[in-house]
Amino acid sequence: MAAILTDPLELPCGLVLANRLGRAAMTEGIADRRNDPTEQHERLYAANARGGAGLVLTGNAMVDRRHLERARNIVVDAATDPGALRRVAEASAGTPTLVQLSHPGRQVNRYVNSHPVAPSDGPAVAIAGAFAKPRALTRDEIDEVRARFVDAALRVVAAGFPGVQIHGAHGYLISSFLDPEQNRRDDVYGGDLAARARLLLEILAGMREALPPETAIAVKLDARRGADDDLAELGRMLAAGGIDLIEISGGNYERPEMAGYDADGEELRSEHESPFWNSAAAVTAAVDVPVMLTGGFRTRAEVDRALAGGVCDVIGAGRPLAVRPDLAGRFVAGETDTLDRPGPRLGGPAPVRRLLGAAAGTGWHRIQLQRTGKGRPPLLGFPALLAALDYTNVDWAQALSARRSRMRIAEETPRSTIS
Ligand SMILES: Cc1cc2nc3c(=O)[nH]c(=O)nc-3n(C[C@H](O)[C@H](O)[C@H](O)COP(=O)(O)O)c2cc1C
Repeated sequence: MAAILTDPLELPCGLVLANRLGRAAMTEGIADRRNDPTEQHERLYAANARGGAGLVLTGNAMVDRRHLERARNIVVDAATDPGALRRVAEASAGTPTLVQLSHPGRQVNRYVNSHPVAPSDGPAVAIAGAFAKPRALTRDEIDEVRARFVDAALRVVAAGFPGVQIHGAHGYLISSFLDPEQNRRDDVYGGDLAARARLLLEILAGMREALPPETAIAVKLDARRGADDDLAELGRMLAAGGIDLIEISGGNYERPEMAGYDADGEELRSEHESPFWNSAAAVTAAVDVPVMLTGGFRTRAEVDRALAGGVCDVIGAGRPLAVRPDLAGRFVAGETDTLDRPGPRLGGPAPVRRLLGAAAGTGWHRIQLQRTGKGRPPLLGFPALLAALDYTNVDWAQALSARRSRMRIAEETPRSTIS
């Protein structure tokens, strides 16, 4: 339905967003060695809550400490310090903040995890030999993944957050199940769209059954070229399963479309600022639940067009708000007409850009998140190459140094859900 940025929005669960700007999930990597939340998270999410967006999504928190996306992710399981999680929830109070829950699947470098899993045996992520070949999950392991997502959602809500987002995008595990190129299973979890979506729908059903009805459950999905009909159909299935918000983005490590690049490191060309515009429009037309479109928005004119034209109900913004959380409020209030995105552009030949461009960009923005977490202003002059090295090498070193203790905690941690 046509809307303007300052319109409030009530999600089906009853949660009310004060406006139509959502702060998208951005991985922080600032948990402690036990993967518990820290004071840096408290400061960062207090800043986001004050920032003026109607909705905040946290960076991806992992449901299984044997399967991290990066060394210092938050993990939500039976070994998580509930007090640390509660303090982040308290810090974020005032603006609905949903914790993004994720399993990385095959997209984890070999230093963090040399035994990644995926829907099917398949090739490693093809970047600089840094990723190990994933093996297919067994049926029992799929059951465990589902139980872990539900368990983590219960813990997040018990900590005081109003809900969660299931990460079904950007090439991680749930996204791989949905992707016909990645999922070649011949059991009930592979095949047609309904089968590929089974794990996601079972997670949603498990959460809906276990959580109070006023809990918000959102999902983030990938737009895939030529697959908008499937995406719309998936939206219908999720709506029937009780989803509250469907966020559309796209891209993965090998095709970093979310960062605005194609597989060759060339800038994406699209008719709209967001390359996922048409896909979001297809889902919005198919479902009654709110749709959020994330990726590429920079100008008020384009934001207004998307909302007024019924392309989506909420605009997602990531990188602009990584640098300045309060830009959200200034943009909504009309004090500025751009969601400007300072950040490095890595030059050089295509292979270098392909190898380092996404890591430099994402790494640079993550440095800014960390600075907010430390109570410091953004550092716009931070060099791109250093950001890429920090994003990769520092992470690997931290992962290797904590690996043994992490696996010991995983061994000792019961997998049952909280009663
Ligand atoms: C530093 C950084 C970390 C990110 N981490 C996540 C994440 O944890 N989960 C996720 O779904 N997307 C993640 N993304 C993608 C963003 O949510 C968003 O989809 C993307 O940046 C495109 O939006 P934008 O053009 O407004 O930045 C990340 C992006 C950046 C820059």
